[in-house]
Amino acid sequence: MFCVFGLLVIVAAVTIVGPVQAVPAAAHLTRSLNADPLWTKWPTSNISYYIDASYTPEQVTQIRAAIDKVSKDMSGCITFSETSPQSPEFKIHVTPNKEGSKVKETRCFAYPGIYVPLKDSGAKEQRVVLTDGPTGCFDGSLHPLMKYFTVILGKINEHQRPDRDDFIRVNQGNLVANTVNIYREHTEDGSKGACPYDYCSITHNQPDVYSKEGEDGFIVRNKPFYIPKLNRLSECDCKDLSSIYAGCDAAKCEPLNCADLDGAEGDEEEEKPVE
Ligand SMILES: *[C@@H]1O[C@H](CO)[C@@H](O)[C@H](O)[C@H]1NC(C)=O
Repeated sequence: MFCVFGLLVIVAAVTIVGPVQAVPAAAHLTRSLNADPLWTKWPTSNISYYIDASYTPEQVTQIRAAIDKVSKDMSGCITFSETSPQSPEFKIHVTPNKEGSKVKETRCFAYPGIYVPLKDSGAKEQRVVLTDGPTGCFDGSLHPLMKYFTVILGKINEHQRPDRDDFIRVNQGNLVANTVNIYREHTEDGSKGACPYDYCSITHNQPDVYSKEGEDGFIVRNKPFYIPKLNRLSECDCKDLSSIYAGCDAAKCEPLNCADLDGAEGDEEEEKPVE
């Protein structure tokens, strides 16, 4: 059944690369949340999920830790509640597998919110795909796992913002085949938000993912001239999500001055414990 929806997404993707409508310059800087009506935010700030039985105990531990850290970085105003596969509410199914199959996906992905046609069809779950292997997202850190639990809340990938060309220069020729959509830009209509472009967003790709061996898929045009890989939501990730979830207060988001982060590419920021 999900194949049908997959096809719809592809159709939708083709549709929304159409002409970008003129918008005021100020709005141009402020687009990091999904606003495409195909996806919607979760109805409450307490989101149910279950973890597929096919993961190893170690992977389950990492997934739970990533979920917990996203919630903590939101000061607990968004919670994820583990439930059973049979529970009746619409929930997240964390899985490495293709829809209705034991065959693993090769890449990790999540939609930016509830996929409305799926929920409307009466489905009781939506996948967040976290898979291992060479193109998967288990690298021993929480960062790549946290990313997909941020996206599923309604955050679009930062490198797909409509204004991204002012901040990164994508080199399509360096990307591996079949990944042109990875850097497809969202339209002004399909995105919203209040933050300037954010190299520290947990949703921002590293330059070397989806690129050919030894090549970078994009260059970083401004400070800090690399993409920090932090095991935390950025201040703007938190503020954007705070604007759409009840009970969240953007003033509680942990400050982060991304432009002034220094150190070699891939350096991790020293983190204060957040309890
Ligand atoms: C979230 O929902 C679950 C199950 O419905 C409930 O047990 C849990 O207490 C709720 N958590 C919060 C923080 O509301």
